[in-house]
Amino acid sequence: ATIQWFPGHMAKAKKQVQENLHLVDIVLEIVDARLPLSSRNPILDQIIQQKPRLMILNKADLADPTLNNAWINYFKQHDLPAISIDSQHNHNVQQIEKQAQVILADKIARQQARGIKNKPIRAICIGIPNVGKSTILNRLVKRNIAITGNHPGVTKKQQWLKAGKRLELLDTPGILWPKFEDVLVGKKLALTGAIKDSLFHADDVALYELAFFKQYFPERLQKRYSLTIDDLKLNDPDLLMKLTAGFGLREDYERASERLILDCRKGKLGRYTLDQIDEATHD
Ligand code: G4P
Repeated sequence: ATIQWFPGHMAKAKKQVQENLHLVDIVLEIVDARLPLSSRNPILDQIIQQKPRLMILNKADLADPTLNNAWINYFKQHDLPAISIDSQHNHNVQQIEKQAQVILADKIARQQARGIKNKPIRAICIGIPNVGKSTILNRLVKRNIAITGNHPGVTKKQQWLKAGKRLELLDTPGILWPKFEDVLVGKKLALTGAIKDSLFHADDVALYELAFFKQYFPERLQKRYSLTIDDLKLNDPDLLMKLTAGFGLREDYERASERLILDCRKGKLGRYTLDQIDEATHD
């Protein structure tokens, strides 16, 4: 669902997350592995503060495997434990509870010393829309939960769900807003489908897509759209024109752009990670 974020919604969503933080031992920060920085909420650090946290790079099946590992290492170097999972195909999801136990090992040891044994770890999933919070929750609890409160600021009676041997999950994920300020981030979110009705025209997003694949995976463009080496030397708008003609869409750049974007979202251009590690230093 597309959410229109107004200041009132943001304040409410933030307050709700802050209230829920008191209830949990650990936060599961969910991001899209294709956008490990761009799909984070801009003020999450400020909201979460010192609460233990596990960063989960979801949709790892769509992201570049080498960069999945590179990003995990990057976050670890910044004292943020991170794992990559593919909740769609239930891959690595079991790691969540294991890593939570590792992160909370000291706390668990202290409880045991006081005679408290097997106390469940309580957790909440937090992230921007469409990163896969509901899918992860459903995988962890091993049944389909209708997430009725899946809208920022909607309050309902919250429940703890058994999500593993010793893991309990709050049934309402924390939904926070994406980064708006940066145009490049906006295009990345639009291209991956994190923002559906975006502020951009389809051709702006498609031009970004063409620039990205020309730089990192030109051979994929070439193969998918039967392009020549010379085609790849065209500037982005000329290449879009060429592709539009090739699709038989005359001068309908918008439809051609939508087609390119859909191909990218569906993985027809292979696995890719839009956020590059060297961009992180400027974050
Ligand atoms: P949310 O609660 O954070 O808003 O996200 P949700 O679980 O609804 O997931 C958003 C979309 O992402 C869903 O696709 C879901 O199937 C997909 N998804 C979640 N986790 C993974 C993953 O690990 N790998 C892949 N490949 N896809 C994943 P959808 O319902 O079809 O919506 P959409 O594709 O139209 O966005």
